[in-house]
Amino acid sequence: MDHSPEKRRRRRCLILSVLAVLLLIIIVAVVLGLTLRKNTDSLKTTFISRCKAFKEYDCPKIWDAFEQSYVGRDPCKVPMEAYDPFIAAAPFQPACNRMMFWSKTTDVVHDFTEKKDCFLTLEDTLLGSVMDGLTWCGKEGSPETFTTGCPGWTDCVNNTVRSFWNRASAAFADAACGQVTAMLNGSIVTPFNPTSIFATIELERLDSPRVKNLNVVLVTQETTVTNCTNASLKNLQKELDPGVKYNCKEVSEAQIQECSSNPEKPCGACW
Ligand SMILES: *[C@@H]1O[C@H](CO)[C@@H](O)[C@H](O)[C@H]1NC(C)=O
Ligand SMILES: *[C@@H]1O[C@H](CO)[C@@H](O)[C@H](O)[C@H]1NC(C)=O
Ligand SMILES: *[C@@H]1O[C@H](CO)[C@@H](O)[C@H](O)[C@H]1NC(C)=O
Ligand SMILES: *[C@@H]1O[C@H](CO)[C@@H](O)[C@H](O)[C@H]1NC(C)=O
Repeated sequence: MDHSPEKRRRRRCLILSVLAVLLLIIIVAVVLGLTLRKNTDSLKTTFISRCKAFKEYDCPKIWDAFEQSYVGRDPCKVPMEAYDPFIAAAPFQPACNRMMFWSKTTDVVHDFTEKKDCFLTLEDTLLGSVMDGLTWCGKEGSPETFTTGCPGWTDCVNNTVRSFWNRASAAFADAACGQVTAMLNGSIVTPFNPTSIFATIELERLDSPRVKNLNVVLVTQETTVTNCTNASLKNLQKELDPGVKYNCKEVSEAQIQECSSNPEKPCGACW
């Protein structure tokens, strides 16, 4: 064996390099682990704190039911039915005559339901408000929750987030009763879009005699391109349960805003 100082120095150098690489790997693993944990923790924190605004629910139990819907699954293979136990853990209370559906009118409708306690959208309920704007998914064979790198709305049909909204929308529509309202957008060419959640999930669940009327509020603006006679709304009527009475009214966005900022106005007087 050659014990020349040159060789020894090289060997020491090699050992130090290996140690440095190992250290780097450990640091990366720890940081990654913390990030993943932070993902789960921050989603859970948001979930629980939003949930606590609704005092009558057991939030940790609802979180457990939620996690079981997607953890350990391929995020593109989460069907609507996976959320059944989650929906069952926080069932919708029927709110007869107050339920509001919407399509492509998110700002106007939520501003309205927030300011005036007349109607209830899915996003005003526990499940809807807890999940609103959030992204989450799991991974096959992993106990983690991810909040980034999840498939988008149109990347695959049965993705984690989309299946939740489909399932929640179905349950919300199943709970509808009496007078039901739908706020649609008069500034787009097809106010009743056949691919919307309203068309594909909700409408078919508005059954008579539980539901008596469907009142469409077609929101008009300066940019309005259509009205209640539009053919897409004729399609809506064809798909609606014949026992449910249909009605459509064009209402300007300005009128809706004026009404929601006027606390004296009763609910029925907005349109
Ligand atoms: C999505 O899930 C549904 C069940 O909700 C299933 O019938 C359908 O085949 C699935 N689609 C795809 C593309 O995996
Ligand atoms: C209708 O849709 C258009 C285009 O997406 C949007 O600019 C407008 O704000 C929507 N109207 C309402 C009342 O939400
Ligand atoms: C509705 O719009 C159509 C064109 O899309 C127009 O011919 C018709 O006069 C409008 N009806 C009303 C009541 O404004
Ligand atoms: C009304 O709806 C149909 C789709 O059913 C659409 O093709 C048409 O352009 C719409 N009409 C107007 C005036 O926006």
